[in-house]
Amino acid sequence: MLTQRTKDIVKATAPVLAAHGYDIIKHFYRSLLAAHPELKNVFNMRHQERGQQQEALARAVYAYAANIEDPSTLAALLEGIANKHASLDVRPEQYPIVGEHLLASIKAVLGDAATADIISAWAQAYGNLADILMGRESELRERTVETLGGWVGWREFVVAGKQPESDIITSFVLAPADGGPVVNFEPGQYISVNVPVPRLGLRQIRQYSLSDAPNGRSYRISVKREEGATPEQKGYVSTLLHDEIRIGDTIALAAPHGNFFIDVNATTPVVLISGGVGLTPMISMLNRVLQSPGREIVFVHGARNSGVHAMKDHLRAAAAQHPNFKTFTFYNEPLPQDQAGRDFDYRGLVDIGTIAASVLLPDADYYICGPIPFMRQQHDALIARGIAETRVHYEVFGPDLFAE
Ligand SMILES: Cc1cc2nc3c(=O)[nH]c(=O)nc-3n(C[C@H](O)[C@H](O)[C@H](O)COP(=O)(O)OP(=O)(O)OC[C@H]3O[C@@H](n4cnc5c(N)ncnc54)[C@H](O)[C@@H]3O)c2cc1C
Ligand code: HEM
Repeated sequence: MLTQRTKDIVKATAPVLAAHGYDIIKHFYRSLLAAHPELKNVFNMRHQERGQQQEALARAVYAYAANIEDPSTLAALLEGIANKHASLDVRPEQYPIVGEHLLASIKAVLGDAATADIISAWAQAYGNLADILMGRESELRERTVETLGGWVGWREFVVAGKQPESDIITSFVLAPADGGPVVNFEPGQYISVNVPVPRLGLRQIRQYSLSDAPNGRSYRISVKREEGATPEQKGYVSTLLHDEIRIGDTIALAAPHGNFFIDVNATTPVVLISGGVGLTPMISMLNRVLQSPGREIVFVHGARNSGVHAMKDHLRAAAAQHPNFKTFTFYNEPLPQDQAGRDFDYRGLVDIGTIAASVLLPDADYYICGPIPFMRQQHDALIARGIAETRVHYEVFGPDLFAE
């Protein structure tokens, strides 16, 4: 338990730390990765190059400090981090290492302003936050390992299928190399892939949403090729999966995690709204919901044009077969051969105002995934039309910088 005095010091100094947050976290990663180079196989080296992960960690620590009187208000944020950590196989013994480097970096950046009292208060606050995360992560690990087909850490999977879904998205069907079952997941959850990246001389971990309903035997992911503007910017893992990984190869996977998923037992309507490769968790949700008869489901999708519109035929066939399923597609840059009414429904960016009567359904839950500006726009459009915040759920394909 933190004393009131400790909480007061943390609250009073949080704005100072926030003002220096970026420098502290930059210093932190530099010293952590110099002292523990093996962690370069765990952290996303692209985030390190571009400073993205720095921001996520700094914001989380600051959000915790600002809410230290009642951390329960951060439940959703902490649940997201714990799931991400569990999927990355972060272990309790790593928390003191991270804590030591974080506190040393606060001291180094703040200099004399960081008095012994301040450092001691932040050490206790870090310990408290670490306990909350470690506790939840250990629950997640136990639950997974106790479930049929579950495992902790990394398990080898064989690429059993590799299927192009559009010019830039390819699906991979992954079955365990040991031939055993795989743990079921909640539609919307992701797995982590852990692969050696020769360009870096390191292993790298990336998350991919599962893109089909659970079947107990294998998983499917659908990966967008991140080409980048220059050869240096070529995505480390996505291009490796596209170019190097073939049927029969093995890759290491963590068990499914994530707090973005539908309640498969509910009967209320589900509205899925995605942009680009953000459709992957939606397809998993859709395929699962269509197994239970009658539940109303709407899928709104935005893509540039038919060239990059993945799983188009699957969606069209599902809509033809299931009267409870409606789909609306927006193309913002249709190709000359793309026909309205056949390939897409509306020209332009996704605008739920155009289809308000079909998406503003009583008791519906809304699931959004796509680029951050896209998600903000859809979220704001729903809230402006009276949808409750608690009904709107979203997934960010990167460090979660959407929540503020
Ligand atoms: C929960 C979750 C689910 C996800 N689900 C999916 C999914 O279903 N399908 C999917 O395809 N992805 C998904 N992702 C994203 C995925 O994890 C990877 O982030 C993605 O594949 C890119 O990884 P990479 O190693 O190829 O690219 P990285 O090497 O990590 O690079 C990231 C991006 O930065 C760009 N870049 C690099 N350098 C620069 C620079 N200097 N300036 C500007 N841009 C630059 C790259 O081109 C690339 O687009 C998900 C992510 C999360 C967190
Ligand atoms: C109290 C301590 C910690 C806090 C507050 C914290 C916070 C965070 C946050 C906010 C993220 C981004 C989550 C997202 O993607 O949305 C993250 C990701 C991550 N965390 Fe932690 N973390 C802590 C401890 C640790 C420890 C001990 C490790 C072990 C090495 C670790 C490893 C990682 C990795 C590898 C990622 C993602 C990789 C990346 O993007 O570089 N974290 N953490």
